Amino acid sequence: MSKKTVILGITGGIAAYKAAHVASSLVQSGHTVKVIMTEAATRFIAPLTFQTLSNQPVAIDMFDTPKRFDPAHIAYAQAADLIVIAPATANMIAKLALGLADDMISATVLASRAPVLIAPAMNANMYANPVVQQNLSLLKQRGVSIIEPETGFLACGAKGQGRLAAPERIISAINKLLAPGLDLAGWKVLITAGPTREPLDPVRFLSNRSTGRMGYALAAVAAQSGAQVTLVSGPTSLLVPPGVERISVATAEDMYRATKEHFPQASALVMAAAVADFRPKAYSPGKIKKKDGGELVLELERTVDILSSVAQIKQPHQLTIGFAAESAHLISRAREKLNQKQLDFIVANDITRTDAGFEAPTNEVTILWPDGRTEQLPLATKEKIAIWIWERAKKRREELLARLEK
Ligand code: CTP
Repeated sequence: MSKKTVILGITGGIAAYKAAHVASSLVQSGHTVKVIMTEAATRFIAPLTFQTLSNQPVAIDMFDTPKRFDPAHIAYAQAADLIVIAPATANMIAKLALGLADDMISATVLASRAPVLIAPAMNANMYANPVVQQNLSLLKQRGVSIIEPETGFLACGAKGQGRLAAPERIISAINKLLAPGLDLAGWKVLITAGPTREPLDPVRFLSNRSTGRMGYALAAVAAQSGAQVTLVSGPTSLLVPPGVERISVATAEDMYRATKEHFPQASALVMAAAVADFRPKAYSPGKIKKKDGGELVLELERTVDILSSVAQIKQPHQLTIGFAAESAHLISRAREKLNQKQLDFIVANDITRTDAGFEAPTNEVTILWPDGRTEQLPLATKEKIAIWIWERAKKRREELLARLEK
């Protein structure tokens, strides 16, 4: 496993001492551990313990470290491959749910795009309190991973659910998030992402709300897993993930050309782009002017269906994977597309949901297979969904190659 930077946030609870075991184990695995403690946490366990275990300074106060303008929470946020908060008090959970940033841990979480894992620990009544449960479910919806506390004897003398998960459970959850265990070495993958723009005149175009996040997450995960990645991207504001070759396109026609050109070398094509199905029939080289009282009727014509066209040249060892963004009859419409476009599988989602649409950081998808199987996956970040998609693509390709060898 490659070495990662883990930010370990420790909040003020009696279970804070157990975080020492987590820190030590991560350091032994070769990861860099940067510990942040709240003031309250330092009452339970000395920062020196973590400084010694991690061989790194421990951050506590947002304002004490910088000698030059390098706010520590931003530096930590950028360095993080993963942020773990263990133990997480009810107070910290509430702050994260609200987006408060009045201490170094919550400010770092807010400023970072790294995945977040929290291990709550508190009195059983506090844990059962609906407000804590609501905050936790809000965080879950936003893609935060939560390790449920255990049931048993609590330091306050009560019995119930609230005891910090055993350090071994926390470490195993960390390892799962750090190393999805996906190996795509030797794969050449072609991914399309984002919207397309179909120009009407020099200043106007038809487009859609796709942000490109799903396709970029697929590209990032594939590159991290050792694949050679070509990303054909419509206009987005996203940065190119490390190790990815991006080809920027604008129209459906450009995307079609770039995809067709690179497809023959690809082990797999994932069409995550929201390709326009129609474009203006005529492009006006001059700006279209309004005419008094007159209506403007736009005539549209079909664009090429990229996946259907690629199906004609697809070799038996190549995978094609599509997406189906639907507002009704999700499963039946996705199945029609799976069959029509001769896909290895299709990833369907309901775009009417605010937590799973184009603009959300999370998604909830159903995967449909040619043999009739459907697989409903839970709501998760697009990064996590990207991992699940590649895991399935890998299995499918292994099956295909085994069948071809026979
Ligand atoms: N797709 C494509 N070329 C197009 C349109 C879509 O390759 N011109 C791909 C998308 O990238 C996606 C899949 O086909 O992977 C399904 O796209 P979607 O827009 O949901 O379906 P359509 O086939 O365009 O059907 P409809 O718009 O009628 O739902």
